[in-house]
Amino acid sequence: MQNFTKTYNHLMAAALLLLATTAFAQPTFINKIPIPPVIDANDGTILLEMRKNFHKFNPAVPSDTLNGGINQPNGITTFGYNKAGDSTLTILGPTLRWHANSDVTIMVHNLIGEPTTTHWHGAEVPPHMDGGPHSPIMPNSTWMVQFPVLDKASTMWYHPHYHDHTLEQVQMGLSGMIYVEDASDPIRNTLPHTYGVDDIPVIIGDLGVSRNNNLGLILVDTVKSKRPLNLVNGVTNPYLEVPAHWVRLRILNGSTRKGVKFGIADAYGAPLSALKDFYLIATDGGYTLEPNKQRAILNGPGARDEIMIDLSGYAPGQKLYLQNLNQELPGYVVGSPQPGPYGGGSDPTIGKAFLELRIVADSNFPGYVPVNNPPSFTTNWEQALQDTSNIVKHRTKNLVKEPHFTIDGTTYSMTTINDTVCVDTKEIWTVHNKTKVAHPFHIHKIQFRVLDIDSMGTMIDLVERGFNGPKDDVFVLPNWKLRFMGYFNDYPSEPTFDHGYMYHCHILTHEDSIGGGMMHQFVVTDQGQCISGVETENLMPTMSLFPNPTDGVLYLHGQSMGNSMVRVLDAQGRFLRDQRLTPFDGDAALNMQGLTPGMYFVEWRTQYGTATSKVILR
Ligand code: C2O
Ligand code: CU
Ligand code: CU
Repeated sequence: MQNFTKTYNHLMAAALLLLATTAFAQPTFINKIPIPPVIDANDGTILLEMRKNFHKFNPAVPSDTLNGGINQPNGITTFGYNKAGDSTLTILGPTLRWHANSDVTIMVHNLIGEPTTTHWHGAEVPPHMDGGPHSPIMPNSTWMVQFPVLDKASTMWYHPHYHDHTLEQVQMGLSGMIYVEDASDPIRNTLPHTYGVDDIPVIIGDLGVSRNNNLGLILVDTVKSKRPLNLVNGVTNPYLEVPAHWVRLRILNGSTRKGVKFGIADAYGAPLSALKDFYLIATDGGYTLEPNKQRAILNGPGARDEIMIDLSGYAPGQKLYLQNLNQELPGYVVGSPQPGPYGGGSDPTIGKAFLELRIVADSNFPGYVPVNNPPSFTTNWEQALQDTSNIVKHRTKNLVKEPHFTIDGTTYSMTTINDTVCVDTKEIWTVHNKTKVAHPFHIHKIQFRVLDIDSMGTMIDLVERGFNGPKDDVFVLPNWKLRFMGYFNDYPSEPTFDHGYMYHCHILTHEDSIGGGMMHQFVVTDQGQCISGVETENLMPTMSLFPNPTDGVLYLHGQSMGNSMVRVLDAQGRFLRDQRLTPFDGDAALNMQGLTPGMYFVEWRTQYGTATSKVILR
């Protein structure tokens, strides 16, 4: 008996030691990443089904609760896209192959039991086919679109965009890749392009799970999760088998809110000094002006980077890592281990690598033709973006926090047109981040050219930042004034709000109203002001509050032709009271009686939008 106890104690000690070492050691990369099947638009109508599934996030470890656990033997509930009738994918979606200058026809069938939309992120499509908040697909119904592919060879993606449900539906797993191919593109065949072998879709996601007593394990925002893990193509602990030649990774930051900084190294968790060179060959909307040698790239949610890495010096059995450099993220990037500037923050994912790359022999890939040369090409901006003259309009978009994150103090309204753009014109937009956190600014319909970035008087190097190619999604750091030029051609429509194209922050908690509704919409038109060439007046409400600070009597100076509404919020943004105003031009008295001294926000909503101002009550 005594002996038994002794042995038992030894065993316990050994087990504890094992636990302790595995907890801090390199994670095991044991799940081969799923490569989503391809649906080619040339094969006819693309039929997508959105379905509720059960998914296993760590399939190589059957006992892991990330596969559901005892009461959820089939896995955790997720949403995913599939080819109609297929059920291969329990998360994400197939890769769609589109061909430049050919038509695509897509039917999306909604079986998730709630309204949703499907948006083609990065693509230029007519407003009612863009899949924004104005194009709901009701449960059990089908949405059909058909359009010519006007985009260049590039990597795009698709995901839901149903306002105030975007976060939740993307978090549940709905996203897929789009490869735009161009038969006339002379660069294509010089680069790796064997899908799944040397041309790999790498969808970086983040996983949050929590226990809900009735439902078991459910997906939640990673900040609320005990195990904030990264996913690649829907699994944790991922690895990928690659040949010992040039390999191309198409990296999408598909996480709901986290910034991603990646690099490549031979050893897991290697220091920055050991990062290897790679080439950035394409940004969101196509090739860079030339391949750019890089060591690390920082990206916000929604952006894509195509990179090429030379593996020719490696032998089967060797390993490399797509490093997760989150220790390099300042506190102002969501996903950093540092505390955030507004409190909270410190939201890193576990582990120092997104993905392990394992070298295997070419014989593993029947029919594969290796690429043995480094990328070498030069391209140019699309014609209209080559010169910076003939700018028809300049706009400034301020990213602010007062009290929520918004664009220009105005939350998203589906029935507001925030900007009217004349078709076939060029504009320069300045995105000024006046908040203390970085926001990925994304605009629909166009691929733009970043002109310059002014960070409090210091100009930022665009090539180093990976902005040397067409973009639709840029990570705008605090204090940056980023200028981009866009050419708004094609698809003029009637300037009504239901023809809106969105622009927004791609941190989905900010985009949806819970974080402020950091989204606006624009229409592209050839009507109204665009015929007469006369600027229409700005109908967005502007107000001033006086006296401010106030002892209790407060006036709103402004003008509204229709009824409007004033809402008073406390310093934390909590709603306190509202007051209806009839049409007025001048000063309206606001009721501040009964409020304790302190700071308040006054929100003024008219039919055209919302203005917000701070007021101090003494
Ligand atoms: Cu990726 Cu407005 O979307
Ligand atoms: Cu988009
Ligand atoms: Cu944001």
